[in-house]
Amino acid sequence: MNLLFKLSGEHPELPRAEVFAILEGEDITYRILSDEGEKRILILEVETENPLFINRLAMTKKVGEFIGASKDMEELVQRLDGRMTAKTFAVESESQAVRETLGEEIWKLGYGVDLMNPDSRILCFEDEKEGYNIAVETPIERDFNKRKPHKRPYFHPTSTDPKIARVLVNLARIKRGDLVFDPFCGAGGILIEAGLMGMKLRGCDISAEMLEGCMRNLEHFNLEGGIIECDALNIKDVGERIDAIVTDLPYGRSSFMTDRNKERFYSDFLRTAKNILEKGKHLVVVFPDSVDIDIGSTVFELREEYSLYVHKSLTRKILVLRRR
Ligand SMILES: C[S@@+](CC[C@H](N)C(=O)[O-])C[C@H]1O[C@@H](n2cnc3c(N)ncnc32)[C@H](O)[C@@H]1O
Repeated sequence: MNLLFKLSGEHPELPRAEVFAILEGEDITYRILSDEGEKRILILEVETENPLFINRLAMTKKVGEFIGASKDMEELVQRLDGRMTAKTFAVESESQAVRETLGEEIWKLGYGVDLMNPDSRILCFEDEKEGYNIAVETPIERDFNKRKPHKRPYFHPTSTDPKIARVLVNLARIKRGDLVFDPFCGAGGILIEAGLMGMKLRGCDISAEMLEGCMRNLEHFNLEGGIIECDALNIKDVGERIDAIVTDLPYGRSSFMTDRNKERFYSDFLRTAKNILEKGKHLVVVFPDSVDIDIGSTVFELREEYSLYVHKSLTRKILVLRRR
């Protein structure tokens, strides 16, 4: 089937990268039909009839079954007629003129307009080259606001934001049933998102208080996971096959005495990760931007790197590494 993704503008690269990483993790083959960077419209032919994977997306604003692109709106509406099972509809477009014209054409076919609660939402994105890109929206189930750190039973200010946590898990190219390990799990921000996507959870943290809080947070979302108290830099073997490590490393000044300690901490962690991960598996890790580690001299291959602005004095970087 053909799918149209309207990517969010909150980061220049992550929304698009997330789509491709999920498809790779789910083993779904695809072909790019259109990739309009500026308009943030991505159209793919995906080899699946049941695109449940779209519920994983954190940074896609809208997604829908792509009907076609043409400068001739009437022709597109004819194509739409054969694909709509709904009785009522609403048109979504940035342009009021498009909403009115397209709405009227669809209405003429016998469908009723319902702007508040339609059976189908018709998405229309204009682009100079192709004209109108039309899709029937498939709503995405997600509610990041309900999972913000301060809304969980145990709150810690360092906890990873749920939307970012979900993107990190998705970048790890894993799917439902895979086992994900967060060695610095803290209050469980990353584990919660992975658990809600059906992954099996393992975690550890050096702080007993964090672990207790993490347990409460996981229970709150009806999730289970093996989490233990340990120093992530001293793990030799976890005794089971891990499909990915996804983690947000400590970065606060209080965690390190000197910058030298800091650099050593991060390299030691990469050595631990090497012991745990098998060849071909991914490690997605968030570092402070100031840390400079020569990935080339490790057993990891740098697949992707993104800069993540947090606030004026803190930018972090996300590295997607594959064990060689
Ligand atoms: C940035 S926080 C992790 C946030 C977490 N992803 C969340 O959503 O709450 C970093 C965590 O690393 C833990 N930590 C620091 N040094 C550690 C070590 N050597 N081994 C394991 N955990 C450690 C801290 O206790 C803290 O909970």
